[in-house]
Amino acid sequence: MPQAKFCIGNQAAWSDPRFNDSSWQDLKTNTFWEKQGVDHNGYAWYRFHVRLPSSLKTRSALKDSLLLNLAYVDDCDEVYFNGKKIGQTGRFPEDKGGYSTAYANKRGYHLALKDLTINWDRENVIAVKVYDGNGDGGIGNGTPYVTILDYIDNMAINTNNSFTFAAANVRKELKVTNNNDTLVKGLFTVNAKDEQTGKNVYSKQYNISIAPKANATILIDIAGKPGTTLTYIFAEQKTGKSIMAIEQSPYILTPRPQETPRINGAQITGVRPNSPLIYKIAATGKKPLTYSATQLPDGLKLDSATGIITGSIAKAGDYPVNISVKNTLGTTSRTMTIKVGDMLALTPAMGWNSWNCWGTSVTAEKVKSSAQALIDKGLIDHGWTYINVDDAWEASARSADGTIVTNEKFPDMKALGDWLHSHGLKFGIYSSPGRLTCGGYLGSLGHELQDAETYNKWGVDYLKHDWCSYSEVAGSDTSLETFMKPYRVMQKALRAQPRDIYYSLCQYGMKDVWKWGPQVDANSWRTTGDITDTWESLHDIGFRQYKLSEYARPGRWNDPDMLIVGKVGWSGNLRNTRLTPDEQYTHISLWSLLASPLLIGCDISQIDDFTLNLLTNDEVIAVNQDTLGKQARRVLAKNEYEVYVKELADGSKAVGLFNLADKYRTISVKPSEISLSPSAQVRDIWRQKDLGKIAEGLTYKLPPHGVMLIKVKSN
Ligand code: GAL
Repeated sequence: MPQAKFCIGNQAAWSDPRFNDSSWQDLKTNTFWEKQGVDHNGYAWYRFHVRLPSSLKTRSALKDSLLLNLAYVDDCDEVYFNGKKIGQTGRFPEDKGGYSTAYANKRGYHLALKDLTINWDRENVIAVKVYDGNGDGGIGNGTPYVTILDYIDNMAINTNNSFTFAAANVRKELKVTNNNDTLVKGLFTVNAKDEQTGKNVYSKQYNISIAPKANATILIDIAGKPGTTLTYIFAEQKTGKSIMAIEQSPYILTPRPQETPRINGAQITGVRPNSPLIYKIAATGKKPLTYSATQLPDGLKLDSATGIITGSIAKAGDYPVNISVKNTLGTTSRTMTIKVGDMLALTPAMGWNSWNCWGTSVTAEKVKSSAQALIDKGLIDHGWTYINVDDAWEASARSADGTIVTNEKFPDMKALGDWLHSHGLKFGIYSSPGRLTCGGYLGSLGHELQDAETYNKWGVDYLKHDWCSYSEVAGSDTSLETFMKPYRVMQKALRAQPRDIYYSLCQYGMKDVWKWGPQVDANSWRTTGDITDTWESLHDIGFRQYKLSEYARPGRWNDPDMLIVGKVGWSGNLRNTRLTPDEQYTHISLWSLLASPLLIGCDISQIDDFTLNLLTNDEVIAVNQDTLGKQARRVLAKNEYEVYVKELADGSKAVGLFNLADKYRTISVKPSEISLSPSAQVRDIWRQKDLGKIAEGLTYKLPPHGVMLIKVKSN
């Protein structure tokens, strides 16, 4: 049902199948209304006229119920089948408890055949009332359909377990779930295809029978080669109907860190005079490590066992500090500059944010468990430090004196902040300049100073300030000043605090925010709408950032949104990212070249070997954290491939060659095409291997949506 009749507004009569909607406009239902030029927040209705062939019923063995799949709905909806209400997801503003978005939930309405009046072989009307709080609006992110459920529709292939790596093999357990009330038998097939040759390289079949409401487990254990597509098919015996799941086998590019000590992370940090500094020296090597520093300015102290520098410096200036890290295998040293002045975020922020995994189901426990995992799994040793709580920490009302209060999921924010700081981590929080946040929680409107003071008490180091319901205030006024004003108000409130609070603007790029972000003291600004874990989203957002290169500089970064690697889900239900391993290498390479903030979006406590490896390559991170603070320029855009070049502080260049095609292809770039010298030396930084001179050119065979990321140094 890729299209429906559509009308803005809300009238009870629109649920009635007899209502005449012929004057309504036709609207696509596989993409949100804002994306089709309907600029509207609030109510609207869709009406589908559907002929259900009776063959649907006769071909089903189960004949039990219909499934109405509405893909995703932004934000909440109520559904009528031939005039009968069959379900609701999310809450409308007039519902008890008030508006609550459910945009992250896929809509599948199951309807018992016995409860429905279905007009077989004739027209049925499905009417959908939608309320959009903000942003996209309506039905999208998939194509709605109706089907009659069969045994196979109550079965699922669950690929959610992570792969482990054992010698040259990748391994994981799959689950085939039977949600029927009867035993189901069938054939399970595993195929592996080599995308380079297009040939099937592996095939195995299993006859399985699964008890009612039970699982079967299949162990996958095959050679883990790049470019391998795994296809799993379960064919149900009675009907021959089948379900399928596809994934790519992961592969690891980066060698493990050496046992000898190595100092990682940014070589510069910015702090304001007298503001508290927390800086954790990021270092790898066999534990225990011992940290020391010479020329540490007055007012600072270093904990030699943890590598955490704390204190404050009164006088502005550049303070180069010589840091050493020692273990039983050796010692290493590096200079790190503490720049005491007005600017923060001299390199892009690196850390974690709760949104892409937990959405509004975030709790203090979940935040702590990702923070603990960030420490335990060693991400902190590569420079990952911010732990940012996104939306849904706020209570439904302020206290009597107007102070913002946390909800029951966050019993003690100050304790959380203290705990993070004691581990050398930084604490981020989320609000909106409007009355409500995008999730419908309390925003800061009219309480900006009070909120900034509260954040200061809690030890907050980072604020993401999300436009959301500020549209109510802005109304139809589209002047630049109206867009800047709310961010100025909060800027003043933050600046009045005795601690540094990184200021992250989130208003999806409206009014070319990159042009005026610095004027409201923003350290970064979102340049687009929300990212999701698909190649389309990654491509659409990531590969148009090059236009903004000139606006990025130390302390002022373009933010193309958070990382979509690992287990994500925007809800209590997490899944593996839908990006292939190659797309994930592309994602991290591109965000590093773009000098984008790097905020991990997955639950770190469930991070797998592949994702951990992806996020701990110090040479790749160094591209992102380079002190020159330049965003890569796109220097070549040809038929389905692009080349980006980022200038680095040591005079070398990071170069990313991206294959945007969905098949393997060989990319060849002459040095002169991208202003490089043939005698320059090339290093593959994912694999951390020197490749010699550029000579004739850069020629690489790249996987679908894959990347080659190199560092090029002229002699
Ligand atoms: C969106 C924002 C997301 C997330 C969400 C919370 O507007 O872009 O990143 O913060 O609001 O409700």
